[in-house]
Amino acid sequence: MVRIAVLASGSGSNAQRLIEHFAQHPQARVVLVGCDQPQAGVLQRAWDLGVPSLLFNGAQLKDGTVQRELQGQGIDLVVLAGFLRLIPAGLVRAFPQRIINIHPALLPKYGGKGMFGHHVHEAVVAAKEKESGITIHYVNERYDEGEHLFQAKCSVQADDTPDTLAARILEQEHRIYPQAIQFFAEGKLEVNGRKVIIKGHPRVGPAAIHNPPVTDF
Ligand code: GRF
Repeated sequence: MVRIAVLASGSGSNAQRLIEHFAQHPQARVVLVGCDQPQAGVLQRAWDLGVPSLLFNGAQLKDGTVQRELQGQGIDLVVLAGFLRLIPAGLVRAFPQRIINIHPALLPKYGGKGMFGHHVHEAVVAAKEKESGITIHYVNERYDEGEHLFQAKCSVQADDTPDTLAARILEQEHRIYPQAIQFFAEGKLEVNGRKVIIKGHPRVGPAAIHNPPVTDF
């Protein structure tokens, strides 16, 4: 069983989707929700779904307490879902290519420090971009710079506000993130530099899936 920990700082709608998606999966399960904000909605969601949670502060993330807890609980894969703190280098080293994040824009544009949640969608709308989307990527010790695993695009309409765009992108996140994590947990992703292949997936040929047909899922 692949033991997944989800780290989140906010409402936790993605965390909920991940928990529900893997609840019956034969090979992977969300066994822990980690959170750095005592008031975050994700804690209630985890409670309601019967998943234990771990509340910690920034110092505990930096001093290795969180890392030891994840290792102590036999976590195989760390999935960030709206987690706003930088992952320290020690934690990245402890889980090599085992920490994945979702960003609500097409990285490398609109990423980096301070580019989270609403700030991202405000910047995309202000720049009058024609398209935005999601990027699912490995996490390294710099914000939003790890290797990309998946991207999926959606259009930005002329009359979009940051709110309407955020809603369209959140729907995309909910649909695609659990499926992408499932491919990873099942060992079906072959990552070779910028080339990512989903083994045995009928809709995806042996080609890079940067902006992949995951929109079909
Ligand atoms: C999502 O848009 C995610 O991409 C971003 O933060 C938001 C989290 O939403 N990193 P939720 O807490 O999962 O509802």
